[in-house]
Amino acid sequence: MAASIHGFTLNTGAKFPSVGLGTWQAEPGVVSQAIITAVKAGYRHIDCAPPYRNENEIGLALKKLFDDGVVKREELFITSKLWCADHDPEDVPKALEATLKDLQLDYLDLYLIHWPFRARKGTKVSELLKNIVPSNIPGTWAAMEKLYRSGKARAIGVSNFTIKKLEDLLAIASIPPAVNQVECHLIWQQTKLQKFCDSKGIHLSAYSPLGSPGTNWIWTHGNVLDNPTLKKVAEELGRTPAQVALRWGIQMGHSVLPKSTSEKRIKENFDIFNWSIPDDMFAKFYEIKQTRLIKGHKHFIDPEGLYKTEEELWDGEI
Ligand code: A2P
Repeated sequence: MAASIHGFTLNTGAKFPSVGLGTWQAEPGVVSQAIITAVKAGYRHIDCAPPYRNENEIGLALKKLFDDGVVKREELFITSKLWCADHDPEDVPKALEATLKDLQLDYLDLYLIHWPFRARKGTKVSELLKNIVPSNIPGTWAAMEKLYRSGKARAIGVSNFTIKKLEDLLAIASIPPAVNQVECHLIWQQTKLQKFCDSKGIHLSAYSPLGSPGTNWIWTHGNVLDNPTLKKVAEELGRTPAQVALRWGIQMGHSVLPKSTSEKRIKENFDIFNWSIPDDMFAKFYEIKQTRLIKGHKHFIDPEGLYKTEEELWDGEI
């Protein structure tokens, strides 16, 4: 199967790179160099968000890349996200302005509602659990549509939306979401969601494509890169498990957003275009036992709160 860096076309007509650099848990101090390394290695999509607390530093790296003539603004695809505490329609344009200021940009290529869950104004990631309040996605989405019409967000979309939440959104949207960015990897393949997204012209983009080893958001009972089927296929193909996990994603028809701040791994994760996983090996991946790893259990699920169980939080998609 042929795949290229510009693998996908969004419902806006924009080209969407198959591989983007994830910046979640890319620590300030190293993220700037990671962006520069990645762009020089050929990455054209950087996936950002304010709660990652590094957009300011990413902005400095982008400015340097533009000033040094390494790449032009229009050659890059930059995504950021609306935080849970900024869902009030009046806060949506302010949140975008703050992100644009930090990133030193005039517009984003894609702006996503980060989570379908809403928190009280000013809530930080560490304070989520006790501050979740009912969402008003129609109001938030209408404010996102205004940003799209203004040209400050050249595409708008969502993240962490289930099929049910996408259906509800599509029922009220004037502008359908271009992208749904979700957890997606070999042990949470999201085949039903992908089929639904394909049928609605929504592009599925995979965060945590390597299973985000080491983060405290992860439910501990799963490790993508140590999966025996993955390791065996990687050995047979003479590739690393990470490369096969990412290549699997683009062969499934979605984009992948691996995070790395290591030059070696940034380059390794991009070397997935000139080879493919043969059908017989690819088929073995469908047999892997499935489980969601980013369950939100420490941040959104509270027996005394709005979402009491995983089933409620994820509309039964667990
Ligand atoms: P590092 O930044 O030191 O490379 P995900 O993209 O699924 O969120 O996973 C990110 C995690 O996987 C980070 O801890 C990152 O560490 C690590 N990682 C990224 N690329 C590779 C790779 N090619 N092999 C092994 N681990 C990787």
